[in-house]
Amino acid sequence: KAFFVLPLLSFMIQECLSADPVLNRGSFPKGFVFGTASSAYQYEGAVKEDGRGPSIWDKYTYTFGKVIDFSNADVVVDQYHRFEEDIQLMANMGMDAYRFSISWSHGSGAVNQAGVDHYNRLINALLAKGIQPYVTLYHWDLPLALEDKYKGWLDRQIIRALGSLGQGEALDNVQRTPYLLDTGLRRRPPRPGRCSILFRLFCRGGNSATESYIVAHNVLLSHAAVADIYRTKYKATQNGSLGIAFDVMWYVPSSNAPEDIEATQRAQDFQLGWFMDPLFFGEYPSSMRTRVGNRLPKFSPQEAVSVKGSLDFVGINYYTTYYAMNDKRKIVSVLLNDAMADSGAIKIPFKNGRPIGDKASSIWLYIVPEGLRSLMNYVKSRYGSPPIFITENGMDDPNNPFTSLKDALKDEKRIFYHSTHLSNLSASIREDGCDVRGYFVWSLLDNWEWGAGYTSRFGLYFVDYRDKLKRYPRTPSSGSRNS
Ligand code: NOJ
Repeated sequence: KAFFVLPLLSFMIQECLSADPVLNRGSFPKGFVFGTASSAYQYEGAVKEDGRGPSIWDKYTYTFGKVIDFSNADVVVDQYHRFEEDIQLMANMGMDAYRFSISWSHGSGAVNQAGVDHYNRLINALLAKGIQPYVTLYHWDLPLALEDKYKGWLDRQIIRALGSLGQGEALDNVQRTPYLLDTGLRRRPPRPGRCSILFRLFCRGGNSATESYIVAHNVLLSHAAVADIYRTKYKATQNGSLGIAFDVMWYVPSSNAPEDIEATQRAQDFQLGWFMDPLFFGEYPSSMRTRVGNRLPKFSPQEAVSVKGSLDFVGINYYTTYYAMNDKRKIVSVLLNDAMADSGAIKIPFKNGRPIGDKASSIWLYIVPEGLRSLMNYVKSRYGSPPIFITENGMDDPNNPFTSLKDALKDEKRIFYHSTHLSNLSASIREDGCDVRGYFVWSLLDNWEWGAGYTSRFGLYFVDYRDKLKRYPRTPSSGSRNS
């Protein structure tokens, strides 16, 4: 009944909700936020406009053979110019919020006023339609200048650089923004492509994971620096909330054997615990400290205090679940030479030759909706029930150039995906007491999927790359709806 009380949800989400007869907007607490998520590099295009400088991803995509379909992100879905049209789509769907990132490359030194003006226009256009902006401060597109100057995230100077982004460009921009997501800071290699298989095998120092630990450490310290700036300077007037988002999967033990159960915990320690333990307890998980030894950076007592508690909510990007098993023979350690190898756990999407779930298009994406509920419960019990936003959840289709537009719009599988994830999320809130505040679909539109280029389509809206980037709503298989 609450269905009628709250504003109507999107067409797509409506379809998802109605796929389960008992699931509707009233299945979520009052004030629960529904939105879609995006990132600057995957959406904006306009890479040479308004003073934007190159990012590490521009360099990467211009290097022949790096992106699977040889594309680059120069134009993508052109949201830099078409944001008003896209905001109208969100408004038509009854979305409460939009998560987008600010392109740091719009100003890697002094504040770039043209960039600030753009984001202010975007924010004002959202607010005018009653859509709350959820701003991601960094979503992977590090200015190339910072990479060239001091190896980006590998150097502690990044802490100051991100701080000044928070202080200058971004925060000027969000004066009227109720929520600030200082996020997208994740466990990514310092440079895209740096941790190639070859690099892993022959990298200096014998262990490529060592750099990931330094990067993650600097990410945490940068996050704490931005949180401090925000809380001391802006929180009182803006009253925003601040969090950090993690791209994580759920792990289930591959067997009941104690060593696989322990390995599953270690796999989670080396993923979510790597960031969440310092944020909630002020130190890395003990399994990491033991296994990584002095390759794992240490927080000074003062740093530990600044990191601990430097968030108002946790952002979780959930897409999939894998099995975890003990790496008895250390095969993975030798082959991968990465942080997961340090954990002594292997993660695999198969058991006895059977996949853990139906597959989406991306090779890594298996559909396991219950994993979302388990993950919510894990965060609740290990970290004392912090407020959580699902900052991303979604699945992709292949980009098949031979499908007709009509076929391309049929969307049964994605409707199933969101419907089942939403019912698990609702159960985690209502039945298990998890404090989940919102859900963002990845993504509003098909967009440019990093190394997979345009071969993967995550949108609630189909984008016709062959015809002026026109946006079309995807439909249930019956094709009964059109626009
Ligand atoms: C997580 C990332 O934040 C986003 O940029 C990416 O497109 C999705 N996962 C899908 O892979």
